[in-house]
Amino acid sequence: MKAIAYQQFGNTDVLQTVEEPKPVIKSNQVLVKIKAVSINPMDWKIRKGEMKLMSGSKFPKHTGVDFAGIIEETGTAVTNFKKGDEVFGVGKNSMKEGALAEYVAVSSASVWKKPASVSFPQAASIPITGAAAVSVLENLGEVNADTQILVNGATGGFGMFLLQLLKQKQANVTAVASTNALDFAKKWGADKVIDYTKENVLTQQKTYDIVIDLSGKMGYANARQIMKPKSLFLNPTPKPIEIPLSLIKNLFTGRKHIVVLSDPSSKKMETLLDAVSRGLQIEINKVFSFTESVDAYRYAEKGGVTGKVVIEIN
Ligand SMILES: NC(=O)c1ccc[n+]([C@@H]2O[C@H](COP(=O)([O-])OP(=O)(O)OC[C@H]3O[C@@H](n4cnc5c(N)ncnc54)[C@H](OP(=O)(O)O)[C@@H]3O)[C@@H](O)[C@H]2O)c1
Repeated sequence: MKAIAYQQFGNTDVLQTVEEPKPVIKSNQVLVKIKAVSINPMDWKIRKGEMKLMSGSKFPKHTGVDFAGIIEETGTAVTNFKKGDEVFGVGKNSMKEGALAEYVAVSSASVWKKPASVSFPQAASIPITGAAAVSVLENLGEVNADTQILVNGATGGFGMFLLQLLKQKQANVTAVASTNALDFAKKWGADKVIDYTKENVLTQQKTYDIVIDLSGKMGYANARQIMKPKSLFLNPTPKPIEIPLSLIKNLFTGRKHIVVLSDPSSKKMETLLDAVSRGLQIEINKVFSFTESVDAYRYAEKGGVTGKVVIEIN
């Protein structure tokens, strides 16, 4: 089968199409014929060697985590799926294995049935960023129409899910995005938008109950300037040292720094599919073919993307 792999850390030039044996499944696994893979920033952070602590430095490495496809084969212990089921899922060891291939073997616990109303590219867009958005929600505590929430970097894949989930909670959301993306932020439920290329949210004299930084560029030290005395900073892009440090610092201050990690569990997928059934839109910015995989990563990595970029495989 064909797969995308790389033999060294680097930019998109290191990505290669390789020929590999079709994976052999274990008893608890399913073999999925891949139809679509969505791109996540995590893919290129691993490829650029920015996550060596977790990914290790062994090669070859594969790429892509989120996928959708059709079950081709089930392991002897798998009872909840059968050949032909349309599914979406996540590569469990996302640091080492890759979904950007013709087939992937994964635990049946990392795969969920795809509703007929959701396309393969849309389903492949759900797991990592969708689960991270639900994790943010789980960390918010009580939220009502008076809760002032700032989402910085609000119109990528993560923001698309988060803005719409916050809207379903009736929160008062200010979204920070670039000029061309402001209309998407409004469409996905932002009550107010700020164009980060023209205004600096840190100097506007307005404070928030919750600041969520999806851009990874604000940081807690800056965010404190616009946080109320008792407020939350939610950080899905922590530096490794911030994970233990935030726990200690939080004991001594009313402003809490909370690290958010994605955990694509069945419960979170249920929450997301329920939100989809109630109108959450999964916006696909652009679809590339498998042979255009390198172009797809170049396109996603240059920024300015609203929603998700997807690679389709026939
Ligand atoms: N903790 C976890 O488990 C977890 C899970 C999923 C994702 N993440 C991380 O969360 C982040 C967001 O994910 P994503 O998929 O939404 O990525 P993305 O699609 O690249 O979105 C990032 C957003 O930040 C905006 N941005 C860039 N510079 C900015 C600035 N100076 N001020 C405000 N906004 C700015 C970008 O807007 P423009 O491109 O329009 O400039 C873009 O909309 C990534 O770093 C990702 O790795 C973490």
